[in-house]
Amino acid sequence: MNDKVISLDRHIIDEQRRYGGRGDFSAILSQIIFAAKIVAAQVAHAGLVEDILGRTGNTNVQGEEVQKLDVYANNMFISALNYIGKVCVMASEEDPDLILLPKEHPKGEYVVMFDPLDGSSNVDVNVSIGTIFGIYKRVSDGEDGILEDCLQPGNQLFGAGYIIYSSSVNLVYSTGNGVNGFSLDPSVGEFVLSNPNIKIPPRGKIYSANEGNYAYWKAGTREYIDYLKSEGNKIGKPYSSRYIGSLVADFHRNLLKGGIFLYPEDIKDPKKPTGKLRLLYEANPLAYIAEQAGGYASTGYERILDIKPDKLHQRVPLIIGSKEDVLEYEEFARKNNP
Ligand code: AHG
Ligand code: MN
Ligand code: MN
Repeated sequence: MNDKVISLDRHIIDEQRRYGGRGDFSAILSQIIFAAKIVAAQVAHAGLVEDILGRTGNTNVQGEEVQKLDVYANNMFISALNYIGKVCVMASEEDPDLILLPKEHPKGEYVVMFDPLDGSSNVDVNVSIGTIFGIYKRVSDGEDGILEDCLQPGNQLFGAGYIIYSSSVNLVYSTGNGVNGFSLDPSVGEFVLSNPNIKIPPRGKIYSANEGNYAYWKAGTREYIDYLKSEGNKIGKPYSSRYIGSLVADFHRNLLKGGIFLYPEDIKDPKKPTGKLRLLYEANPLAYIAEQAGGYASTGYERILDIKPDKLHQRVPLIIGSKEDVLEYEEFARKNNP
């Protein structure tokens, strides 16, 4: 590997030197990366390796079918983080309650919350899936972390990121000083810097939404999507529709190319009155990344990062991506709810 190649470890050290910050955070990030490499290896062999694909036959707190890889990834991130003595509590999309650390492990100052496997409905059809994580400083004192440590607004994030398990394995993260993307070089098993200082274009030409829900959207949302599909929008021609069904993959493409992702509120499905996506595990970490890259994330009515969570598994409408596009959506949405 020549010296122009920047490994993730070196990037973390450079960030620490440049912006200060404690080795603790770097230790947490390194463990997340370790677990991600293990999950990536399993995803790469999914379909070949017995018993890692398919459903467990259980449903999770979200009321969704739990895939075996969901459980595997969840356990991997928990075990990678619970013994390093930097974390006081965790929360996962896959666990109904707080994840407290085993008594014998020392506790630390940080809180880690994650969606261990995003897009899991795509697991057995070889479509990109990912992991999303957010890291906070604890607000409580005492040994174990408590619920209050997890119910912090996204504007308190200390760092966040995601990994995409696809044709290549990408890691994108920020600690508040911009966004950088890394690709896993399988020949050496190291993440190397591939997308330095990512900035999302202020306006895109792509929209990502599950239009199967069109009948369940509020009028403002339907009007907005119809507007994007017309020649009357700001780019003078219809936006392209791109929807993978894995949030991390749809978000990552829009982050690099520009565009808007929408999972709006749903007025018909009692399970999704405020949309499907989870504030703590999906919306907040990606909103943090989007804003660090010059984009924006909103419910249509308020900034995602300013929402004070009141439940671990709270769902929110998520409108995220190029800033001008998201702000334009807000104009349409506000017509619904003046
Ligand atoms: P998860 O697999 O963690 O439950 O997340 C799935 C989410 C997200 O990845 C994606 O954007 C969305 O579900 C797709 O939902 P629809 O199938 O309703 O469009
Ligand atoms: Mn998810
Ligand atoms: Mn998930």
